[in-house]
Amino acid sequence: MANKDNIQNETNIKNISIFIEILFPSDKILISAYMISLKTRITDLFKIQYPIIQGGMVWCSGWELASAVSNSGGLGLIGAGSMTPEILKIHIRKAKNATNKPFGVNIPLIYSRVEEIIKIIIKEDVKIVFTSAGNPKKWTSFLKNHGVTVVHVIANRAFAMKSEEAGVDAIVAEGFEAGGHNGREETTTFSLIPLIERAVSIPIIAAGGIGTGRGILAALALGADGVQMGSVFAASEESSAHINFKNEIIKAGEGDTRLTLKKLIPVRLLKNKFYTEINLAIQEGSTTREILEILGKGRSRKGIFEGELSEGELAIGQVSALINKIKPVNEIMEEFLTEIQLAGKELKKFLNN
Ligand SMILES: Cc1cc2nc3c(=O)[nH]c(=O)nc-3n(C[C@H](O)[C@H](O)[C@H](O)COP(=O)(O)O)c2cc1C
Repeated sequence: MANKDNIQNETNIKNISIFIEILFPSDKILISAYMISLKTRITDLFKIQYPIIQGGMVWCSGWELASAVSNSGGLGLIGAGSMTPEILKIHIRKAKNATNKPFGVNIPLIYSRVEEIIKIIIKEDVKIVFTSAGNPKKWTSFLKNHGVTVVHVIANRAFAMKSEEAGVDAIVAEGFEAGGHNGREETTTFSLIPLIERAVSIPIIAAGGIGTGRGILAALALGADGVQMGSVFAASEESSAHINFKNEIIKAGEGDTRLTLKKLIPVRLLKNKFYTEINLAIQEGSTTREILEILGKGRSRKGIFEGELSEGELAIGQVSALINKIKPVNEIMEEFLTEIQLAGKELKKFLNN
């Protein structure tokens, strides 16, 4: 018998239509020239071609990365978490020059200059904002009253429901595998998406551990309307991260990242000297104050932007084990689409049998 859950699932599957066309240009068949159209509530919401979002990332996602993703048919986000309001203004203006496609700004709400950042966003007429690391009630209605589409990042069911109540247009549901700040519940993306899909009716963007076309299809099959990826784009040519950090992502293998600072502010990092020091302090029962002292200030900048690999904080996801080359964004996106096409064909075989 149909219940609310499987009615929602059916609608979702219907919304995800894949049309594949092989084009025949003048005299030769171009096998790689194809068109995939993945229409979901997320492509409708943002008026983008593919439901693929590049997550806002401190020290990685400036105008260059965001506009490259938007130009490739996804949605690029400028990461305001590592920018002063003045710098953000420059990045927004450069992004507008570099693309005529939609792009947005990510604001971690724990950032002390949120109010100034939001003023810039309104003044510069940015129409898409992804908030994270904070209470969605604080800024959602203000932003929406200014015509902004608002998405909030969550890692558990309670916050998904709170975000829907606050009136956000969609949520990013980010699992335990993800790079950067993370949930205390340690819910993996595979468990989180179906949980959230049963809890809210607004569109869901899956994040955490997605780095391939197959991963994108899996997230859609789980009930998501789109995906957000960070790690894969952090290692791209257009990422503003230091080359040392990008090379470290390429080198990273299975088990090289860990979630730490679980009581304070959980974050997934590459295991380096900084990580080892923090973990030792936690194991030895150091107080919050002592741990904050070790953390100090500017560790992310040091690691990601300045390429100081032992003293810096190196946020990255488990999916780093799959990343083995620094590539331009358009190549990354093309690979996703090729793999979606192939995986889609394989899955169709299962369904026909
Ligand atoms: C280097 C790095 C920095 C990040 N910075 C932010 C940030 O400033 N704000 C935010 O909401 N998420 C941030 N994230 C999370 C990403 O936006 C994205 O949700 C996450 O990377 C998805 O998981 P994945 O790493 O498995 O792709 C960061 C992730 C990385 C890897």
